[in-house]
Amino acid sequence: MRVLVVGEGGREHALSWKIAQSPKVTKVYVAPGNGGTEQEALLTNINIKSDDINELASFAMKEQIDLTIIGPEDPLVHGITDKFQALGLKCFGPSKDASQLEGSKEFMKDFLQKNNIPTAEYQTFTDATKAIEFVKKTGCPIVIKADGLAAGKGVTIALTLEEATNAIHQSLESEIFGKAGKKIVIEEYLEGEEASFIVITDGVTAIPFASSQDHKARDEMDLGPNTGGMGAYSPAPIVDEVIHKKIMNQVIYPTLEGIRKEGYQYCGFLYAGMMIDKENRLKVLEFNCRFGDPETQPIMMRLKSDLAEICDKACDLNLKNEKLEWDERKAIGVVMASKGYPFKYEKNKPIKNIPLERDDLKVFHAGTKLDSGLVKSNGGRVLCITTLGESVELAQKKAYDAVSKIEWEDAYYRKDIGYKAVERELNELS
Ligand code: AMP
Ligand code: GLY
Repeated sequence: MRVLVVGEGGREHALSWKIAQSPKVTKVYVAPGNGGTEQEALLTNINIKSDDINELASFAMKEQIDLTIIGPEDPLVHGITDKFQALGLKCFGPSKDASQLEGSKEFMKDFLQKNNIPTAEYQTFTDATKAIEFVKKTGCPIVIKADGLAAGKGVTIALTLEEATNAIHQSLESEIFGKAGKKIVIEEYLEGEEASFIVITDGVTAIPFASSQDHKARDEMDLGPNTGGMGAYSPAPIVDEVIHKKIMNQVIYPTLEGIRKEGYQYCGFLYAGMMIDKENRLKVLEFNCRFGDPETQPIMMRLKSDLAEICDKACDLNLKNEKLEWDERKAIGVVMASKGYPFKYEKNKPIKNIPLERDDLKVFHAGTKLDSGLVKSNGGRVLCITTLGESVELAQKKAYDAVSKIEWEDAYYRKDIGYKAVERELNELS
């Protein structure tokens, strides 16, 4: 099987690394890839951007690609799967219509309401005065979300009316998110613990991946600005058997049924961002029509099954008899970012002493490039140091030990990735 993986982040490094391990796979291209995928003997980077749907389709035709796997949301929301399928190419990822679950918060919230799937109360606004009146009536904290794709930056948790008013003005009037923020969803603030629940689906059958949790806040103790994710671990201890079943029955199956009712096609990864409260009630925070980043990195470390084969079967609408096998060990991924991320940061800084791959350690690259064989930073989130251990605590120690060996003067990282899971482990022991 000749495979093309689309994307350039840590997620795509982990997915393509895993795909290349399949005995069925003879060639893996990554478009455009990064410094890490370029270093992998079994992967070949090609210089086509992940949003250049026409070029990607021409490449797939010319190179007789058997299966294309889409990493990021942007090409999905812009219809890459529809385009590939029209050309007779197999493409793993939901159709343009179905990808609205991530592409439009308004669509997602209306969809959830229509299908009786639990989520926070909300209202949609295009007018700032009306939005502010609503916040005055409801009170704070409250959550303001840009309707469209805003590269993970479109959500403000406003603790005061002033913060809410600012967020509303910036999105609707200053248009800091462009078209994506000309409409906003304002929703009830939810308390609880978050978990990422990701399945692979052919539209009918859904096979869950191991659960995971990511750390979206930039700073320790989950403080500071929201980012794409500063680290993740798997499994998420909060997702026990009961919660797992609840998520499947209250969220995943009704979602697939709702998608079928709309007449949309969903073959791909479906990511439900969940909030679970103290009484174990759950609500959907968000849907992504793709795998999570950085959740992919620890999850792929634990996956024993053949990812290429299972994605291929999903495209053939043939997941019914499949299951996934897991390494029982715990996995953790610590993101090393450029100082200043998620705001302004510098690129082109040399990074040395990156530990080599072992059975229990893999450094996945995101914003890196190779410059005469030397790894240089080339983005906000740069590396994800991913390890396996008998406990989260042991995996965490290994990851931070590896982090301390990496020489890169501009590095910023959280020192507490996995802290909630480690606390739980310690409580269980005592
Ligand atoms: P989203 O992109 O919608 O997942 O939002 C990004 C992050 O903001 C989530 O992972 C949560 O940490 C937080 N968040 C989003 N919606 C809410 C909510 N209604 N209540 C509390 N936190 C939220
Ligand atoms: N880590 C969150 C996301 O991928 O959206």
